[in-house]
Amino acid sequence: MSQTNDPMTDHAYDGITEYDNPTPGWWTWLFVGTIIFSILYFMVATMSGGGMSPVASYNASLEKELRKQYGELAELKNDDASVLKLMRDEKWLRVGESIFNTNCVACHGKGGVGVTAPNLTDDHWIWVKSPADIVDVVLNGRKNGAMPAWKNTLRGPEPLIVSAYVASLRRSGGTGRGPEGTVIPNWK
Ligand code: HEC
Repeated sequence: MSQTNDPMTDHAYDGITEYDNPTPGWWTWLFVGTIIFSILYFMVATMSGGGMSPVASYNASLEKELRKQYGELAELKNDDASVLKLMRDEKWLRVGESIFNTNCVACHGKGGVGVTAPNLTDDHWIWVKSPADIVDVVLNGRKNGAMPAWKNTLRGPEPLIVSAYVASLRRSGGTGRGPEGTVIPNWK
């Protein structure tokens, strides 16, 4: 049995004794530091409205990348075919949803179920007969600005993209404001 001069703790259990070898100070403080960091990080990450979560930052950079691809939409017109085309494209729907969440949710509610503005998830429409009418409502507004005109606020193809998202909400069945307007022909 090798002998060392290391100090022993003063207890013995059934003759088993123990060296008094605490972890080095730098190690302990590093450990304490990680705990403090995790508490601070947790507070910042949760109090920043989830904006720092991995999912949120993934979505933010994805959306930024997609915006760079606006060029590919340059030749699209604000017509029925273009709205329907984007409506069937998962990638543009995501961008449309994000534009909607930034600009429209306050009045139309999350997912378009309607708050102070009409429910966009039912089959009743006031101003819309075909998909292109959505773009016209978005660009020019209605009712003296109760529905604001977005032509000077949204950039490039954004009115078309958000309209495709609105078109996709039809019959998505969100419970919210009651039906307004009339039932219009299918576009799907
Ligand atoms: C300040 C509140 C407000 C905001 C913000 C707003 N809207 Fe509206 N929107 C309205 C109101 C009010 C109406 C109904 C107008 C009417 O009754 O004639 C409406 C109507 C509409 C309609 C027509 C619905 C129908 O039944 O024909 C569409 C489509 C629409 N909005 C899309 C949007 C989109 C897309 C955005 C975001 C870019 C948006 N709105 C932002 C208030 C708003």
